Amino acid sequence: MPERRPFIRLPTDVYPVNYGLCLKPDLIDFTFEGKLEAVVEVIQATNQIVMNCADIDIITASFAPEGGEGEEINATGFNYQNEDEKVTLSFPSALQKGSGTLKIDFVGELNDKMKGFYRSKYASPAGEIRYAAVTQFEATDARRAFPCWDEPAIKATFDIILIVPKDRVALSNMNVIDRKPYPDDDSLVEVKFATTPIMSTYLVAFVIGEYDFVESQSADGVTVRVYTPMGKAEQGKFALEVATKTLPFYKDYFSVPYPLPKIDLIAIADFAAGAMENWGLVTYRETALLIDPKNSCSSSRQWVALVVGHELAHQWFGNLVTMEWWTHLWLNEGFASWIEYLCVDHCFPEYDIWTQFVSADYTRALDLDALDNSHPIEVNVGHPSEVDEIFDAISYSKGASVIRMLHNYIGDEDFRKGMNAYLLKFQHKNASTEDLWYCLEQASGKPIAAVMGSWTKQMGFPIIEVDQEQQGNDRILKISQKKFCASGPYNGEDCPSWMVPISICTSEDPSCTKLEVLLEIPETTITIHNIQPDQWVKINPGTVGFYRIQYSSSMLESLLPGIRDLTLLPVDRLGLQNDLFSLSRAGMISTVEVLKLMEAFVNEPNYTVWSDLSCNLGVLSSLLSHTDFHEEIQEFIRDLFTPIGLKLGWDSNQGEGHLDALLRGLVLGKLGKAGHKPTLDEARRRFKDHVEGKQILSADLRSPVYLTVLKHGDSATLDTMLKEEVRPQDTVSVIGGVAGSSKHGRKAAWKFVKDNWQELHNRYQGGFLISRLIKLSVDGFAIDKIAAEVKSFFESHHAPAAERTVQQCCENILLNAAWLKRDADDIHQYLLQRKGAPV
Ligand code: BES
Ligand code: ZN
Repeated sequence: MPERRPFIRLPTDVYPVNYGLCLKPDLIDFTFEGKLEAVVEVIQATNQIVMNCADIDIITASFAPEGGEGEEINATGFNYQNEDEKVTLSFPSALQKGSGTLKIDFVGELNDKMKGFYRSKYASPAGEIRYAAVTQFEATDARRAFPCWDEPAIKATFDIILIVPKDRVALSNMNVIDRKPYPDDDSLVEVKFATTPIMSTYLVAFVIGEYDFVESQSADGVTVRVYTPMGKAEQGKFALEVATKTLPFYKDYFSVPYPLPKIDLIAIADFAAGAMENWGLVTYRETALLIDPKNSCSSSRQWVALVVGHELAHQWFGNLVTMEWWTHLWLNEGFASWIEYLCVDHCFPEYDIWTQFVSADYTRALDLDALDNSHPIEVNVGHPSEVDEIFDAISYSKGASVIRMLHNYIGDEDFRKGMNAYLLKFQHKNASTEDLWYCLEQASGKPIAAVMGSWTKQMGFPIIEVDQEQQGNDRILKISQKKFCASGPYNGEDCPSWMVPISICTSEDPSCTKLEVLLEIPETTITIHNIQPDQWVKINPGTVGFYRIQYSSSMLESLLPGIRDLTLLPVDRLGLQNDLFSLSRAGMISTVEVLKLMEAFVNEPNYTVWSDLSCNLGVLSSLLSHTDFHEEIQEFIRDLFTPIGLKLGWDSNQGEGHLDALLRGLVLGKLGKAGHKPTLDEARRRFKDHVEGKQILSADLRSPVYLTVLKHGDSATLDTMLKEEVRPQDTVSVIGGVAGSSKHGRKAAWKFVKDNWQELHNRYQGGFLISRLIKLSVDGFAIDKIAAEVKSFFESHHAPAAERTVQQCCENILLNAAWLKRDADDIHQYLLQRKGAPV
């Protein structure tokens, strides 16, 4: 791979205080004109100004010292360093120390790459194709809309003016303070927005388009609007309700009010991420904001609530206090990914959302972080492609998981105290990971920096091995830690170790922590007093600690009845199963043991536990699709899911709630995918009735029925992916869906990616979607040769923002291949033998 260029941050001899920015987009020609008048401070006399700038043409630039003391100086050279996305403005004489105004006139293109200042396509209610002009600046694309100091620590205030067609909605971070006809063209208006607080460039936003909205006032006096496509205002009501409840919740939690007079949430038709937390103007993918009261399913509602909760948390954590550099991106994303659950738990306690955290974030993070090609939470990054690369499950899900562990270790009261101190101390400024630890340490008196440093500065996590011995009324636990790797425990020299907060419960009260210790050394013993020989002991109740556990066989044996009789908490049933599954992939136990364990879940009532089981069985099914006994694992899945499927039935019963709806969709979808005949028949019948207009398919049944009835994705689906009608933002998940659908789909998807690489890479301009695309299309293989093929393909087809992802995928493919070689025969034998066994 080519060497990375050395990356240098912007010089600090000139910095911005206020950006006066006027933009005039042309929605027909897809260009824009811009005028920047930035108040800057020159710290040291210089005849150069270096700023960020990409795909922008500067027409003129000049510098006028403040107060008319001295002449305005015109820049005589604009030297673009395209690779570094910088421009150097050269002046014929030195700019003197002190304040001045930097004026730049420039033009740019409203691109179609979903980054910077870009165009988003929509149809007017009459069906006419039109374009909105919108922005996505995080991480490093504000520089595509205007020349600026595009680093999170270089904060300034913004005065924004947009010149737009008078029939369009124009929005920015702040409220409108003036709107007047544009002198040169009476079809245009000039919209002026209030001055922003001091803020980072990546949080600036504007939107020009046609939208409807719904509006409300939060209890703390903030005007909240949800902007929807024309004619769909109804669909903004759910998000509006969530947002108006959420703002006062955060105000109370942080003890800091939301600092702007308004907040807009807007659905953008073409949008690369899920949502973006621009201060006061949060942008969303349509599927992350809009809820159709009649047609949206329960999982969409839950997703919208989580995304709204996430982005609104950033208004404090990220926008008010911002990371000093992208190395601390995880602070933003990990924290928001944790507190979104706290917020949804507050708004919708019936979602049991914290259990879902464990299956959605915690286990995903453990899986990724067990790879040799993982990375520490805090990672040095420089060049924009390296920044794009860390918007991954380590920053988000591991970040959220270690904060959850920390919150549990400190306790809510001290945690809030520390958070409040942190926000007050650093508001309108920047902070680093250490700064947060310091505030939490002050608040709790616990060694937070030392404990947390071990989790954020080194990659990976430990496996805790536990054995026990009864001595009279005491239980002696022998506990040790080692680094866990996806290929087995670390066995090199210098095994890293962690400061691990360990909690322990017993069968006396499975929901209550009996003992807490901080494991600081590789090995220790702990004594539990007053415990009977027949009582079980469990480590990590609540599945909060970020580690995996390997129990001695006697301890494991004693825990298993708790799965069948449900005395273990759902989150612990889930965690135990997930640990064992991952140990089997690592070759530490046989996969047959896990299949036996899975059979103990037949009476399981909990949605999230089923969802995690379903996910792991999906992994196993994909693995075994490389063998000639794939049908046997399908049968295993059908057998496991049939009783719960029968119990739930197809139609919801009176008094059922959110989780019942999710469970029914999950189970029927799984049975359909596994080829369960009665489910297939009923799905076909209901689909037919729905299409013929005889009986409407309820929203929660649509996804499982469609998935069951419609043919598995194939090359024909893939061939539509590059057509005009498919939005580039959706291509990735469809290709991923095809790859995950079957053995055939997997091959077809990888071939498609190879055959169309130039076009796909160009579409996303190397952004983070390219990593997701690669992961989704190759992670499921289990053949050594394909790992080599993937590696060599990306050696000749360079994807700078996905280098680490490619390595992770190759590692995963090799791990799968090893797993298959190791366990396939035993699994086959077991599956055959259980068929023969009397029921
Ligand atoms: N700050 C991000 C948006 C973002 C993502 C910008 C990737 C640049 C690159 C935003 O807060 C976010 O995290 N969005 C998530 C959704 C969220 C609910 C996890 C996303 O877009 O996936
Ligand atoms: Zn975020």
